[in-house]
Amino acid sequence: MIAQNAHYNEKMASVYEQMYPIGFDTDAAVEYFSGMLKPEAKVLELGIGTGRIALPMAERGFRLHGVDGSEAMLAKLAEHDTESVVTAVLGDFTQPDLDMGGDFDLVTLVLNTFFVAVSREAQLNCLRNVRDQLAENGRFVLEAFDPSPYHVMTKPDFSMRYLNETAIMLDTMMVDRSQQLMVATHTIVDGGPPETTQHVLRYAFPLEIDLLAELSGLKLVERWGGWHQQPYMASSPRHVSVYERVN
Ligand SMILES: C[S@@+](CC[C@H](N)C(=O)[O-])C[C@H]1O[C@@H](n2cnc3c(N)ncnc32)[C@H](O)[C@@H]1O
Repeated sequence: MIAQNAHYNEKMASVYEQMYPIGFDTDAAVEYFSGMLKPEAKVLELGIGTGRIALPMAERGFRLHGVDGSEAMLAKLAEHDTESVVTAVLGDFTQPDLDMGGDFDLVTLVLNTFFVAVSREAQLNCLRNVRDQLAENGRFVLEAFDPSPYHVMTKPDFSMRYLNETAIMLDTMMVDRSQQLMVATHTIVDGGPPETTQHVLRYAFPLEIDLLAELSGLKLVERWGGWHQQPYMASSPRHVSVYERVN
């Protein structure tokens, strides 16, 4: 079954790179991954998107594979990947038994994408898939925000962001802390009819992710406050967490 992923439709795919421009902190992430890998290592990115990370990784000689639930995002990736250096397929990493061929030296899940799995079961499916796709000494790296400031939100939040000279995005966000759900809407205003998509995330605290990982046969090896390997502290807005297989 393919991900219910109406959020990453054609319109969102068309502005995605303006939301997260190359250089956002892509360079630091690519540097970090490269530092942990042998030449030509085999890498799997879950939610590969438009190839923000995968393409520079492939350019460095790593063998990049990816899965994504959005045809529109994969189409953008294919547009950029003129030399077909990345192997990407349509699929849903929150469903059981994702088969990407296994034996990966590194599996990555960045930019809060873990939280698209909107139930505990879906998050467990995702982590079991990771475990099954990892090589014996492989590593799994997950990057996500720390939910603490969102978990205490009692009112909807509204913000606006610049996309380009002729387009802005209006964002709303509401949190249901009883379910650890965050419901965001994004409305693109670009002169055409405004288009709104809804995005639901199930956030999880780092220690909860560790527990779900343990239940899936993975254990935490290290945790950083970001791609520059800054210490992870109580005030860190996000974390980069590294897991290995429990054999
Ligand atoms: C925030 S974007 C990250 C894209 C890319 N990893 C990056 O860092 O730029 C999340 C991506 O995950 C994909 N995605 C969301 N849910 C998914 C699912 N259940 N299975 C596969 N891909 C999914 C989306 O289509 C989107 O491309």
